[in-house]
Amino acid sequence: MAPKADETAVKGQDVAAYAASMTAQNVQEMVRRDPSFVPERYIQKKEDMTKATDAPHLSPEIPVIDLSLLSKGHEDELKKLDLACEDWGFLQVVNHGVAKEVLQGMKDAAAGFFELPLEEKNKYAVDLNDGQGYGLPYEVPQELKLDWSDALVLSIYPSQNQKLKYWPTAPKEFKEIVEAYSTGVKKVAEELLGSLSLVMGMMDKDALIRLHKEMALVLRVNYAPTCCKPDEVLSISPHSDMSTITILMQDDDLHGLQIRHDGKWVPVIPIPNALVVNVGDVIEIWSNGKYKSIEHRAITNKDRTRISFASFFFPHEDVELEPFNQMVDSQQPRKIYKKLTYGEYVGRSITSKLDGKAHIEMAKNKSK
Ligand code: OGA
Ligand code: NI
Repeated sequence: MAPKADETAVKGQDVAAYAASMTAQNVQEMVRRDPSFVPERYIQKKEDMTKATDAPHLSPEIPVIDLSLLSKGHEDELKKLDLACEDWGFLQVVNHGVAKEVLQGMKDAAAGFFELPLEEKNKYAVDLNDGQGYGLPYEVPQELKLDWSDALVLSIYPSQNQKLKYWPTAPKEFKEIVEAYSTGVKKVAEELLGSLSLVMGMMDKDALIRLHKEMALVLRVNYAPTCCKPDEVLSISPHSDMSTITILMQDDDLHGLQIRHDGKWVPVIPIPNALVVNVGDVIEIWSNGKYKSIEHRAITNKDRTRISFASFFFPHEDVELEPFNQMVDSQQPRKIYKKLTYGEYVGRSITSKLDGKAHIEMAKNKSK
C-alpha cells in the first residue's frame, strides 16, 4: 500500500529510491527521512491498544526449558514442556546447543545488511510470487493497520526452495552465518518435536518429524526502527503463527515480544542467549487444541531499533492435518478441527493478512 504523496516529502535523487520504498513499505527509510512522522495507517485503533491490559508481573512465569535435560529424556523437563505448551504456548529454551558466536554472528550480519543504503537492499526486493526477499512478503488490505517494521524473508529448507537471488551478498559472511544459524535452530526444533512426540503419546521420538514429510524452514528477519509514538504503533500486529513451531531470537536486552495470556499481554523478557519457542497452528490442530498457538505481537521502542529472527518450521503442503486420535479424550471428546492439507490451510489463510487467530478459527469443525 503506497503512502499518499503528501505524506512523505520526496526530493531530487531520492525519487527512485522512494518509488521502490513504496512497494516495499519501507519503514526504516521513512524514519530516516523524518523520525517525527507516523502516517495514519500505522496508528493502531485506540480500542485495540487498550482492550487488553499489560501484565508484566507474569513474565517470570513463562516457562524456561533446559534442552540438554530434555534431550536426555528427563521426566521433569518433559512434564514442563507439556505444561508449557498447554498453559502458555510459549517457552524459552536454554542450553540449546547453538553456539553464542553463531547467535551473535547472525545478529551482526543482519544489522550490517539493514544498514546498507536502500538501493543496495532493494537488489533483494521481495517478489510476491515467491514470498521471499526484502520488503513486505504479502499485501495488507486497506482496512488493516500496517506494522512498523521491514522484513527479510528467506526460504531455507528444503534446500531446493532456496532462491539465492534474495540472499544478501553483503555483509560477505551473510550466507555462511544464515546456514550455521539455520542448522543450529533446526536441531533445536527437531529435539523439541522429538520430545513433543513423546508427550503427545506417539510411538517414537521421530513421529512428528516424519509427519512433516519434508520439514520446511522459513527465516523471517524483522527490522523495527525507533518509533516516536510507541504507545500507538506496533512493530508486529497480533497474530498466531501458521507453523508447527517457531523459534525466535530476540535482542538480549531489549524486550519487544508480548504474548496473550488470560486475556492480557505478557512481555517475554529476554534471557541472554536463550531462544523463544512457540507452538504454531499445526501443533494446535494435531493436539486437538490441547497445546495452544497463542496470539502474540511486538511493540515499538522510542530509542532503539530492534531486530528479531523468527524461524518458522512447517510441514509439506500435501500433509493432511487432523487432530490425533489419542488427543480425543474426556477433556476434549470430539475432534475440534476438520481434516485439511497444510497447503489448503495456508491457502485459505494467506490470501489476506488476517487479524489475530482468525485463520485457525476457519479450520474448526462447526459445533453440532
Ligand atoms: C513473527 C513474530 C515476534 C518478534 O515474526 O511471527 O511473531 O518479536 N515475531 O519479532
Ligand atoms: Ni509470530
